[in-house]
Amino acid sequence: MTPRDHTQLLQALAQAYAQHAPRSAALNRRAQQVMVDGGSHSLRLIHPFPPRLVEARGACIRDADGHEILDFWQGHHANILGHNPPVVVEALHQAFTTGQGLLTGFTDELQIEVAELLCRQTGAERVRFTTSGSLATMYAILLARAFTGRERVLKVGGGWHGAHPWGLVAVHMAPGSQPWGVESEGIPAAVVGEVVATCFNDPEALERDFREHGDRLACFIVEPFLGAGGFILATPEYLRTARALADRYGVVLIFDEVISGFRFRAGDLGTLYGVRPDLATFAKIIGGGLPVAAVAGRNDIMRLCGREGGSRVAFSGGTYSALPAALLAARAMLTYLVAHEAEIYPALGRLGAQMRRIMAEALAAEGLGPVRCTGEGNAVVAHSAFALPHFLARDDVALLRPEDVLDPGRCDVRLRDQALHLALLLEDVHAVHGGGAVSTAHTPADLARLDEACRRAARRIKPYL
Ligand SMILES: Cc1ncc(COP(=O)(O)O)c(C=O)c1O
Repeated sequence: MTPRDHTQLLQALAQAYAQHAPRSAALNRRAQQVMVDGGSHSLRLIHPFPPRLVEARGACIRDADGHEILDFWQGHHANILGHNPPVVVEALHQAFTTGQGLLTGFTDELQIEVAELLCRQTGAERVRFTTSGSLATMYAILLARAFTGRERVLKVGGGWHGAHPWGLVAVHMAPGSQPWGVESEGIPAAVVGEVVATCFNDPEALERDFREHGDRLACFIVEPFLGAGGFILATPEYLRTARALADRYGVVLIFDEVISGFRFRAGDLGTLYGVRPDLATFAKIIGGGLPVAAVAGRNDIMRLCGREGGSRVAFSGGTYSALPAALLAARAMLTYLVAHEAEIYPALGRLGAQMRRIMAEALAAEGLGPVRCTGEGNAVVAHSAFALPHFLARDDVALLRPEDVLDPGRCDVRLRDQALHLALLLEDVHAVHGGGAVSTAHTPADLARLDEACRRAARRIKPYL
């Protein structure tokens, strides 16, 4: 398929949106005076301007123009219980009124409790906290490089591990003959040269890459559920092959569970596959809405960042690591998920399946088809809350790896990522990249609203195709 030009469609949507949200438009003009693009984090800075939030509760946010926006982004997918869930807010409220919460520069029993919870639920031997998923994956890579004494980092093309030099390579497809690009200027060429990109869900490609680079590889870092790369679960065979190859070549296997941790069960996703990584990284959900991230895993690797391992890796965690307020939120969130695991995950799975069906059917029925959603479970992962619709070039396009969903020749990426996102926002539905996930705060009535919003959005889009 030759990629369609959506310039006119996007202009029309932007115009309609400026009329729909004049107060947010005005705030955006003010924001742009003092912040590049009017804010921080590019995914929040929707073009032509983002809704400016006033309040967030449960499944919805309210913006400065008074719209009740149904939100399937839910804090970068951190808010599995919806916005500002009482179980976390009450714990924080109590703490702040009794003189706890802010940074003290001391350590406490709370930190031990959260570490114990994480180790118990993920099978890790030891854990260290930091403040973001990016830092967690960077520290995990440093640990792997120190442990093995090797340089190279194998990652999945299309995998996103956050903003650090090794993570900013091979995320988006590059135009031309090179499949993957470098995401940012300023990255040392030596680092770019150390990153090898492999193909997701392709055990044979993985074997080839280990054969070629195995004795120089420090680690293979992989998301068991690919987030930014298209909401795709790893196949069981792929992760089992990764484990076997890492063992054969003495490579540290890192599961980046920043998105998947506590999303499919009250613990790591690797457990559902029966595959234990050497290290795993967690963030998002575990913080309960505040910045908590962690590296967790084998003691003989983790100890390299402490006195007992010669402090060979400078993984201190940072000034705000293990911030008491954040750990209070983490404890409240994790305790709740563990206690309610049996109800929460099957319920999310049922609503997630409904969301995938509704989006695909509604968009196709209004003439944008063929449409198929990724995000579904597999033989070992029964419940998935995720849904991402793809506008397929042909009915038979496979959606197994990032190359499938990010290639404009196979799926109309701009139609989903930009046009559908904005057209849904005009219906007061927020779906970053055109999709998202349900939280426990979403209800069947919200999905009926999504159904109607998809149909109206498609009718708005259709005349421009
Ligand atoms: C799989 C994965 N790893 C790492 C990161 C980076 O986490 P953070 O944004 O907390 O730095 C993200 C963020 O979206 C992610 O999805």
